[in-house]
Amino acid sequence: MRLNKYLALCGVGSRRRCDELIESGQVFVNGQVATLGLDVSDNDDIVVNGNKISATNDKVYYVLNKPKGCVTTLKDDRGRQTVIDIFNQAYSKQFKNKNIPKVFPVGRLDYNTQGLLLLTNDGDFANSLMHPNKKVNKTYRAVVYPKLSTQDIVTLQNGVIIDNIKTLPCFVKVTKDLNNKQIVEITISQGRNRQVRKMFESIGKFVDDLERVAIGSFVLKDLARGQIREISPKERELLYR
Ligand code: URA
Repeated sequence: MRLNKYLALCGVGSRRRCDELIESGQVFVNGQVATLGLDVSDNDDIVVNGNKISATNDKVYYVLNKPKGCVTTLKDDRGRQTVIDIFNQAYSKQFKNKNIPKVFPVGRLDYNTQGLLLLTNDGDFANSLMHPNKKVNKTYRAVVYPKLSTQDIVTLQNGVIIDNIKTLPCFVKVTKDLNNKQIVEITISQGRNRQVRKMFESIGKFVDDLERVAIGSFVLKDLARGQIREISPKERELLYR
């Protein structure tokens, strides 16, 4: 991962601030003055202004059942609630008297998308799940209208053009017929901007409600909306696979 991104994820400052620190020679990687554009991992010894950066210690892994109406960023310049606000509130309630760990979200869910969101302070873990080359499956449950035909399903599965680029093959299954809508499960291996909504829109369908229900074979289980739980090492291994 790029050094400036890594430092920002460790809470050193914004990426621009981290660039300034690197450019002014205040960052050392493995004893050498760092340069912009350097790639680092958790195994590197990183020192900023004489302080060792400690994202490598005490790695933590949580899953949040994200509610609608919050942004998946660390801060929002429009003052909207963030998933970090939700995490901190849930943590104080659920893990009383423990210091709240500093985490960042793994990937993104839209403001109005709910469901499974991972939070960690482990940059390598996040990278291994989100890197486009890894093609990790993500499953969403969407309430869609008007109803899909069999041909629509085939079209979506083969890939549709969104933002001028064809989507990779995916898996689509109608799980329930409602009055004039359907509940559809869609599993995609990419993480493009508003991908699920745009895919349906490309064939003239609309998403009423969107929830992420799985990443690979990792599921929310019975975690209530707005609640967090720690991910066990065994579950983490499942995610790595
Ligand atoms: N696809 C979307 O359209 N939105 C999300 O939040 C995630 C995937």
